[in-house]
Amino acid sequence: MSTAPRRTAAEAYEKTPTVIFQSSALAARELALEVRALIEERAREGKNAVLGMATGSTPVPFYRELIRLHREEGLSFKNVITFNLDEYYGLGPDHPESYARFMADQLFDHIDIPKENINIPSGKVPSEQVFAHCREYEEKIDAVGGIDLQILGIGRTGHIGFNEPGSSRDSLTRRITLDRVTRQDAAADFRGEENVPRFAITMGVGTILRGKKLVLMAWGENKAEMVAKAVEGPMTEAISASFLQGHTNARFYIDIGASRELTRVKLPWLVGPVSWTPRETNRAVCWLAGLLQKPVLKLTDEHYNEHGLGDLLSEQGPAYQLNIRIFNHLQHTITGWPGGKPNEDDTYRPERASPYPKRCLILSPEPQDAVVSMGATLERLSEQGHEVRLVALTSGSLRVPDREADKFAETLRELAAVVSDPTAWTAQTAYAEEVLKMLAEKGDFGADTPLLRQLKALVLRGELRDAANACRISNEHIFFLDLPFYEEGRYRRFKSTQADVDALTNLLREQRPHQIYLTGDAADPSSVSGICYRVFQAALKNCEGEEWAGACSLWLYRGKERPLEAHEIDMAVPLSPLQLERKTRALGRFGSLSSLELSSPESNRQNAAHYDALGLAQYEAIEAFQRWSRA
Ligand code: GLP
Repeated sequence: MSTAPRRTAAEAYEKTPTVIFQSSALAARELALEVRALIEERAREGKNAVLGMATGSTPVPFYRELIRLHREEGLSFKNVITFNLDEYYGLGPDHPESYARFMADQLFDHIDIPKENINIPSGKVPSEQVFAHCREYEEKIDAVGGIDLQILGIGRTGHIGFNEPGSSRDSLTRRITLDRVTRQDAAADFRGEENVPRFAITMGVGTILRGKKLVLMAWGENKAEMVAKAVEGPMTEAISASFLQGHTNARFYIDIGASRELTRVKLPWLVGPVSWTPRETNRAVCWLAGLLQKPVLKLTDEHYNEHGLGDLLSEQGPAYQLNIRIFNHLQHTITGWPGGKPNEDDTYRPERASPYPKRCLILSPEPQDAVVSMGATLERLSEQGHEVRLVALTSGSLRVPDREADKFAETLRELAAVVSDPTAWTAQTAYAEEVLKMLAEKGDFGADTPLLRQLKALVLRGELRDAANACRISNEHIFFLDLPFYEEGRYRRFKSTQADVDALTNLLREQRPHQIYLTGDAADPSSVSGICYRVFQAALKNCEGEEWAGACSLWLYRGKERPLEAHEIDMAVPLSPLQLERKTRALGRFGSLSSLELSSPESNRQNAAHYDALGLAQYEAIEAFQRWSRA
């Protein structure tokens, strides 16, 4: 089959060949075409194609492309045999979060693969039979001639399948205890970490490496660090994906976000000539300062030369001038006036002074996102007289635990019993009973009925109002868009449609903002914020040519993704200790924030520490933004 791509100087650091695609959609398409070629070649020979399948959000676009090839281009899967990597131990195929169910929903129910050709480890095999079950799984793979193409994702611990840190290179299919980080990552699927299974059955690293061809996919910046370690670091049991380096036909297919930490992307001057754009120059100077732990203004010609930045120095030096320029640039990113300072010279300010006041539209993919990431900036904008509109793009109902609905129903029932005329409350009592019945019927992991979703969405609306009020945004300035894609789907399985784009386009046209804050550019494209970001792109495109759209400034904030690094920041809004305290208090108004969301004030402190280390003023904390380029 295909040979490994030719290595360029820039890829010299990469021990497993890595292809960077412009988008996950393009990568998924490429891989689907490779799979089609394999299946058709085998069909012509009258043989089977054996595919190793993965779960998680990563392969979803690939599976959608396979389904499209089947439906629209007649690709048949009659001669395909599949083996899945893993399954949660304790979950049967009917469990909504089992991988068996995932595969049925995402692929198998939509193609013509014979049911008997599908192999997935059983999560329900009794404990004493696990060993035999795993051995049989290995034998079955060998009996069909081994896996022709193994699809892989990568977990935050660097695992492939569920081969958590410590899995040896030769490990085989077995039961494994899930790592804490892995369980945290699955918490949203299971509505809380405490519900995530503790064990799984997984193919071993050795099993995976027996595959004839391996392709590991990864999307979004959250995967970038692990991808770089797996591709460029040493082969180690601590990161099972690093063992792909020892395979003769393994590749990483990644998108731009997931490539961010590769040397050729992060430190391009170490691997070849660089075109020194302002952003690259910033990056190099901030990197050098960080490496040497020196403020920017103390870097010398020698420092630049001795650390691979001789080119930059000869082009833009001497160090003294270059340092001053970058220092001034960083200095100019800092502003206490995120909406622009009225009646002031704005030549060196991140945001223009006029018009004043501005109509500022803050887009929050899930209701809590904007308050978590830019609560203090929200407060500033409002305090400084701008017309701030906070828009929750989705209802966020999936993140509201059952206990909240339960609490509400119980309270309503009790209230109905104590009011002076209980007969006037029969409808309320009936509603409460209905909610409690639905909760009991659905069990821990069943899908919420529309009624439950509605109730949970209202609970979250209340929390958002409460938190936003604490940031000086009043109720009439909070909007709930309830994008339909969220109401149709579940985490990792959303699919946006034209209806989403239309809803957001209408909102933009109604509001005609001067300034928009949004997030999701660096997110996994199948996450809620990743989808909202693309819906926004499409909506804005619809408004192209409209006067307000051309003049509107767009600011990106970071949510669950890696925080912006100093060189990426275009606007740094400093927070006083008191403002940080108020933001922390506002976060306390939400009932169920993840540990990552709760640590946002800490991340704001880190931003300030980085600026401080570069030699800028010392602030308590900073909320950071990047200018959105319309490219
Ligand atoms: C789980 C699966 C892996 C998958 C990983 C990443 O741990 N067992 O096979 O690669 O999740 O999931 P996602 O693609 O959702 O980021």
